Amino acid sequence: MIYDDITQVVLDDVFLRLDGFADGLDLVMKIEAFNGAGSVKVKSALGLVEDCERRGMLRQGMGIVESSSGNLGIALAMICRQRGYRFICVADPNMAPNNRALIQVLGGQIDMVTTRDRNGGYLATRIERVRELVEQDRSLVWVNQYANRAAAEAHNRRTAASLFAALGDLDYLFVGAGTTGTIMGCAYHIREQGLATWLIAVDPEGSVTFGHPPGRRRLPGLGTSRRPELLCESLIDDVVIVPEIDSIVACREAVRRWGYFGGASTGTVLAGIRAYLPKMRLPARAAMISPDMGGAYLDTVYSDAWVASAYAGTVETPPHYGRMPLLAGAGYPRPPMTRPASDTTPGALPGSLSAHADHQH
Ligand SMILES: Cc1ncc(COP(=O)(O)O)c(C=O)c1O
Repeated sequence: MIYDDITQVVLDDVFLRLDGFADGLDLVMKIEAFNGAGSVKVKSALGLVEDCERRGMLRQGMGIVESSSGNLGIALAMICRQRGYRFICVADPNMAPNNRALIQVLGGQIDMVTTRDRNGGYLATRIERVRELVEQDRSLVWVNQYANRAAAEAHNRRTAASLFAALGDLDYLFVGAGTTGTIMGCAYHIREQGLATWLIAVDPEGSVTFGHPPGRRRLPGLGTSRRPELLCESLIDDVVIVPEIDSIVACREAVRRWGYFGGASTGTVLAGIRAYLPKMRLPARAAMISPDMGGAYLDTVYSDAWVASAYAGTVETPPHYGRMPLLAGAGYPRPPMTRPASDTTPGALPGSLSAHADHQH
């Protein structure tokens, strides 16, 4: 396959069956790491840039500013380089050093905020900085990945369409929630196509996206400290909350079991599926999305020293950190869920999300 434009390299037909993940569960992972910009976010970025171009907001000589923890920044930097726009990425200290370097190599400028917002994260501070930049310089456009539906529509058209074309209707689809662009795109697709698939959001502990209490998060990619405007909860059937340490354990287990070296959010989704098993009707067919691979997380998720220092003494660490499988380890140290198996039927339209969102804190 010969492409004329690196930003058009999107391999939407790559899946991996996670054999033996759990008895009765046929789980397939959609891999997004082979896209030109290395993650699922190239589709969000193209959707956003093309939307601004179509509306006449973005023309030659102008630039883009966006708040990103890395992957959207990389994708936007690549697209801006290729289309001749300036790019300023407003980032925070959770950004993986590799991502920062990559954005700079691609010609993007990093604008780092260091003050936490009142939810303990950086999102509100980053958004404030973006607003400041666009006010100072009228040739800058904020593509606004948290509110611009063009990102979700891109995932409806591309990510979800290719997933369901390859796998058919499913019992469950698990998707991590960051800006919620990916999951909302899947939600639109499921509703528009009348599919029976239950859509489950996976969110890290400490994220406020689904109304849970804010808390410190160290892993980039998923979760927010400010609710994304894109999110429409009534289109999501259920939510599972995952402590960060479980994401790390799951990333390492995926390496050991399937030789798959996923990024942090892949681990979060895997851990979310594991935690959700007691609520599932088995046997079932399920899919998940792996947004990127682990290269940018070598110094965090895959570093024993970083994990030991980042999570030592935190509430989620003590009971299971000591038994946490490191690269050669095994098993999930989560306590069993106390909630009974699902009392709802896959495919039924959700009532209120909050009725389902009270587990796995
Ligand atoms: C690695 C990774 N996973 C997941 C996500 C979340 O995707 P979305 O913002 O579409 O919810 C992101 C977003 O930046 C990401 O970089």
